[in-house]
Amino acid sequence: MSQYQDQVVLITGASGGLGREAALQFGQNGAKLALSDINADALEATCAELRDAGIEVFSRVCDVTDETQVNNFVNGAYEHYGRLDAAVNNAGIDPAHNLLADIPLDDYNRTMDINVKGVFLCMKAQIPLMQAQGGGAICNISSVAGVGAAPNMSVYAASKHAVLGLTKSAAHEYGKCKIRVNAVCPFITRTPMLDQSLELVPPGQREAMEKQLGKSAALKRIAEPAEVVTAILFACDKTNSFMTGHELMVDGGMSAL
Ligand SMILES: NC(=O)c1ccc[n+]([C@@H]2O[C@H](COP(=O)([O-])OP(=O)(O)OC[C@H]3O[C@@H](n4cnc5c(N)ncnc54)[C@H](O)[C@@H]3O)[C@@H](O)[C@H]2O)c1
Repeated sequence: MSQYQDQVVLITGASGGLGREAALQFGQNGAKLALSDINADALEATCAELRDAGIEVFSRVCDVTDETQVNNFVNGAYEHYGRLDAAVNNAGIDPAHNLLADIPLDDYNRTMDINVKGVFLCMKAQIPLMQAQGGGAICNISSVAGVGAAPNMSVYAASKHAVLGLTKSAAHEYGKCKIRVNAVCPFITRTPMLDQSLELVPPGQREAMEKQLGKSAALKRIAEPAEVVTAILFACDKTNSFMTGHELMVDGGMSAL
C-alpha cells in the first residue's frame, strides 16, 4: 500500500514550485488532495494535470491572508472528504531584497501578512478539525532564513522565524490531542520564487549566480523541489509518530558548519 493511501492532505500555495511538487508526490503516494492558491489560473492548471494523472483533487482559490477564504477552503475540504489527515502550510512570498533601512513598510506588511498571518490563519482553521477527529499532522514551510541571518532579506527572515515560533508553540499546545506540528526549513530551491530573484541578474550570468548561491551548502548546489518535498512527506507521515515541534533542515549541510 502507498504511504498516503486514502489520506486527505491539504496544501496551500499549491500551484507554486514546492506546492505543486508536494501535491504530485502526495498524490502519487495515494493521497486525496485539497489544494488552494491565490492564482486561479495556475491552480486550475495544476489541478487538471493532477486529475489527468488519476489523483483526486478538491480545490479552492484562497488568499491565505483572508480569514473567511481560509475558513471556506479548510472547512470545505473537510466537508468534502470527511477528514483532514495532514496540512502543508506552504504559501509564501520573498519580497525584493534590500538592506533593512531600505525596505518599504508595504513590503514588511505584505510579507508578514502572507508568511506569518497566513500560516496562523490556516493552523487556526485546521487544528479544531484535527482535534475533533483525534489527530493529524501539520507541516509549515519555514526556511534556512528561519533559523539564522539572511542579509538583504531581514523581513523574510523575521517572517520565517515567526513560522517556527507558531510551529513549536502549537506542537506543545496540541501534542496531547495527537496533532504533530513540524516545520521544514529549505535551502535555496529551484522554483519560480528563485526565478523571480534571478530575473534581476543578466541572463548570461544566471548559471554562475546559481552556482554562487549553492556554495554555502556542503553539497555545493541549490536544492531541487523534489528533494525538499521528500522531507515534507516524511514530516507528515503517520509512521513518523514521535517527531513534533521540529525544524527539519533541508539545507544541503549548510547549517552543519
Ligand atoms: N524556493 C526557495 O528557495 C525557498 C527556500 C526556503 C523556503 N521557501 C518557502 O517555500 C514556500 C514555497 O515557495 P516556492 O519556492 O514554491 O515559491 P513559489 O513562488 O513558486 O510558490 C508560492 C505559491 O504561493 C502562492 N501565494 C502567494 N501569495 C499567496 C497568498 N496570499 N495566498 C495563497 N497563495 C499565495 C503563489 O501564487 C505561489 O503559487 C514558501 O513559503 C517559501 O517562503 C522557498
